[in-house]
Amino acid sequence: MTFGFAYTDHLPADFADRSLREDVLTGLTATRKWLPPKWFYDKVGSELFEDITRLPEYYPTRTERAILTAHAGRIVELAGARTLIELGSGSSDKTRLLLDAMQTAADGDPDGLGYVALDVSEDALRQACAGLVAQYPRLRVAAVRADFTHQLDVLPPGAGRTVAFLGSTIGNLDPAERAAFLAALRAGLRPGDHFLLGADLVKPAEVLVPAYDDAAGVTAAFNRNVLAVLNHRLGADFDPADFDHQAVWDATAEWIEMRLRARRPVAVRVDDLDLDVRFDAGEDIRTEISTKFRRDRLTVELTDAGFTPQGWWTDEQGWFSLSLWGVR
Ligand code: AVJ
Repeated sequence: MTFGFAYTDHLPADFADRSLREDVLTGLTATRKWLPPKWFYDKVGSELFEDITRLPEYYPTRTERAILTAHAGRIVELAGARTLIELGSGSSDKTRLLLDAMQTAADGDPDGLGYVALDVSEDALRQACAGLVAQYPRLRVAAVRADFTHQLDVLPPGAGRTVAFLGSTIGNLDPAERAAFLAALRAGLRPGDHFLLGADLVKPAEVLVPAYDDAAGVTAAFNRNVLAVLNHRLGADFDPADFDHQAVWDATAEWIEMRLRARRPVAVRVDDLDLDVRFDAGEDIRTEISTKFRRDRLTVELTDAGFTPQGWWTDEQGWFSLSLWGVR
């Protein structure tokens, strides 16, 4: 039952189960074991991530919010934003700063403004959009359940479209995935549309590593929670205490790699996949890459994909960036 916003589902009902099974089978039978980071975010994992965003060591969320607070007006003005489409919208929390700026810019005519949330989680979409409808009664709100890594052809039409991809989620993609994502996004846009990107920046390892290995152990709990997700959803029998949390800065690739390292030889059964997995002592599962960017590299990649630079904003320390791109 929807109230006040349109809901469209572009994913099969069994999408989450099917892709989880495929991912776990591929990742845990690989020579170097890995799991994609999207499976962190069950209810417990989403709460742990919210806790991470409030940690003293985890600067990205509060830094991005500060940049948005300072510059949302100028961003909205440059983009001519009247329809905001947010990829991986989650709680749509920072979105409000952009919606407020859109309303201010459109003071004569707020009825034409729209917001489209795009996410794979129906729960997150419904909760976020219900909150927005209550707070912005004249805003046209739509929820689209889709996977932004391969469904960018479903972006709804609209005037002054600005696609926002915040929180440095783009950092989870490896270079090949990133190029494919940017090309697909460009193909889904038209001249006159804009792309607003939140991207974390390269900085000293002394700042980066604690952000992914905090003193309170919240990130460690978040990382290990993916094993509990496999236990619940696939009938696996991981003991999360068998694995140590690791956060490693790869200075060549310029990404933080999160890993779970077996503390001893471990044998795991994954019932629903009829799969037995063995870990040597010290063997890793790579659970996430979190790429850190430089302005030059982003400009090359976005330009190659068919975008043109329209604006670049950072905090005083130059730790995080928001950038606006036009479509050639
Ligand atoms: C939500 C993917 C941007 O990479 O910083 C936080 C997730 N992982 N701490 C990030 C995360 C560990 C986060 N992203």
